[in-house]
Amino acid sequence: MQDYWFSCRNMKTFGSFLQIGRNMHQGNHTIVAEFILLGFFNQDEHQNLLFVLFLGMYLVTVIGNGLIILAISLDTYLHTPMYLFLANLSFADISSISNSVPKMLVNIQTKSQSISYESCITQMYFSIVFVVIDNLLLGTMAYDRFVAICHPLNYTTLMRPRFGILLTVISWFLSNIIALTHTLLLIQLLFCDHNTLPHFFCDLAPLLKLSCSDTMINELVLFIVGLSVIIFPFALIFFSYVCIIGAVLRVSSTQGKWKAFSTCGSHLTVVLLFYGTIVGVYFFPSSTHPEDTDKTGAVLFTVVTPMMNPFIYSLRNKDMKGALRKLINRKISSL
Ligand SMILES: *[C@@H]1O[C@H](CO)[C@@H](O)[C@H](O)[C@H]1NC(C)=O
Repeated sequence: MQDYWFSCRNMKTFGSFLQIGRNMHQGNHTIVAEFILLGFFNQDEHQNLLFVLFLGMYLVTVIGNGLIILAISLDTYLHTPMYLFLANLSFADISSISNSVPKMLVNIQTKSQSISYESCITQMYFSIVFVVIDNLLLGTMAYDRFVAICHPLNYTTLMRPRFGILLTVISWFLSNIIALTHTLLLIQLLFCDHNTLPHFFCDLAPLLKLSCSDTMINELVLFIVGLSVIIFPFALIFFSYVCIIGAVLRVSSTQGKWKAFSTCGSHLTVVLLFYGTIVGVYFFPSSTHPEDTDKTGAVLFTVVTPMMNPFIYSLRNKDMKGALRKLINRKISSL
């Protein structure tokens, strides 16, 4: 979705963009076989700190989300659509961070910044898959909470386990189709002369900026697909919360109110974090370094949000805490 905002910001410069693309096409060019990922700072002094920081965030993300998946899969009490969506979100989070951070850590250690064309395209494919699936799962979870709170009597008929599985399968299928579309469009592009990406992994937006081909079709598809991938889940989330707040206000007992709020609290926190960072980064960019803004946004989506998810769920949710406690007790008694 950062790609969507990228296209928005660049819509105005479309004309000049295409002009440049056309002019560059005419000369003789060396075709790029590998890309250079600049990473974060160019100075050597910060690299050790960066390595430790990202390694730490990586481990926290993998362990935290891994515990959630384990706790949910071992506790049959949690085999409900909502928790299966959550387990899928955790799986997507682990995959998302594993797609970008390990390669970056290796590059820092080996002091090499290169990535082959094929690896770069593969990394881009998966980065799109996981950003889109995050969006779709948050939307699906909003729909689930909407039915649970606004139509509690129909919940078991509306949210059958089969239907939950169907929604998950559709989400994964759609995100792969979207990533495939962008990838097939991207490999049509030529990369000549310039191969330096001012980024820490191969992301669609900086790749499009780098290409010397005409990127109009790519930008157009990005705009339309990106818009729908953001708008539909966000609308779902928005309307479910309008209804949820209404329902909660009608509950007379304070205890009932609190229970209803805490059911959705964890989801709302993730949503606010996720969309909050989008708004924060792309509506109020530190305009002096647009490339750094892309990078900061990417860090938030691919590293910080995946890392925060387990804390939000396990700390705020009684059932998750119970499942984790069971998991730990089981481990201890089996030692
Ligand atoms: C994702 O969801 C599906 C169906 O809802 C479930 O069968 C599967 O176990 C989940 N994946 C993970 C990693 O929990």
